[in-house]
Amino acid sequence: MDTGRIGILTGGGDCPGLNAVIRGVVRRALADDVHVLGFKSGWQGLITGDVEPLTRLSVAGIQFRGGTILGTSRTDPFATAESLAQIRENWRKYGLQALVVVGGNGTLTVAKRMFEEQGYPVIGVPKTIDNDIPGTDFSFGFHTAVQVATDAIERLHTTAESHHRVMVIEVMGRHTGWIAAYAGIAGAADFILVPEVPFRISRITEALANRRGMGRPHSIVVVAEDAKPHDDEDFLTESQKTTIYREERLGGIGHLVAREIERLSGIESRVSVLGYIQRGGSPNAFDRILATRFGEKAVEMVLEGQFGRMAALSGTSIVDVPLTDAVNGYKYLDAEFYRHAEIFFG
Ligand code: F6P
Repeated sequence: MDTGRIGILTGGGDCPGLNAVIRGVVRRALADDVHVLGFKSGWQGLITGDVEPLTRLSVAGIQFRGGTILGTSRTDPFATAESLAQIRENWRKYGLQALVVVGGNGTLTVAKRMFEEQGYPVIGVPKTIDNDIPGTDFSFGFHTAVQVATDAIERLHTTAESHHRVMVIEVMGRHTGWIAAYAGIAGAADFILVPEVPFRISRITEALANRRGMGRPHSIVVVAEDAKPHDDEDFLTESQKTTIYREERLGGIGHLVAREIERLSGIESRVSVLGYIQRGGSPNAFDRILATRFGEKAVEMVLEGQFGRMAALSGTSIVDVPLTDAVNGYKYLDAEFYRHAEIFFG
């Protein structure tokens, strides 16, 4: 018996685990005879009516695959009144009872507005490698990105050691230092620079001198893409800041940190920017499980009528929280966690 039809879309940057959420939603929905329509390329698919029915067969085995079988975009339906009108028309046309929106800060903000301002029954699922969404202990994708960055840091150790160099590795994370801190600890970095704590380059060069005294001149410095020098020791020009701290595309601080370390310490320094490799490829087991559980939970929330809310992880339990909490700024790196990381610096 067909007891309903729900839609799903994936928005924002791709992230390991998106396909596992899609499969989780479809499998859980089918268990209650609810059918799922997948809208392509984020909100764009709901605007244009680009849609495909998702069946047990079409989602079979996709939990291993990176990216999203639905495609993604950063389209904002609130950009034009016409887009909103098209969504209203498509919502009716496809007979939707609810929409599961899988996304990060931007996509979930739109989901919240769709619920509050337009009255749509919407459920959110937190997706991002950055782990910066409030209301959930972890978003799926984060642990896979940490593993990728950790593997990269581990490899850079041998180059740093062999060449007696400083290796700087720039990682993603937007305005938060979760990836940098987790991968930095797991990969035994000598310094971890995060946006939450402005860094003093002199602290690094002094520690490098100490290390050289111990016969260990090489070093690994992990830099989050939005890390900033402390005002007291700001070595960046205004034009450099404009280039590297662009809201729509962060990146470049790693090169400037390496150059400054080399200038002040005289130690040869090199940079690796990890970039999109952190987002691509197959999710690890943790993210597959978390994403699958989020998918199941989203459907249960639909069945219970818990709209305007987001599936979330609290400890080891999957719970739900208001979307308003989830889009209320960023979840910054825990200061206590960073203090523990600092013990291993230098
Ligand atoms: O939010 C995930 C993320 O990969 C960030 O870490 C990064 O700053 C940003 O997306 C890059 O986005 P884009 O795909 O627009 O280049």
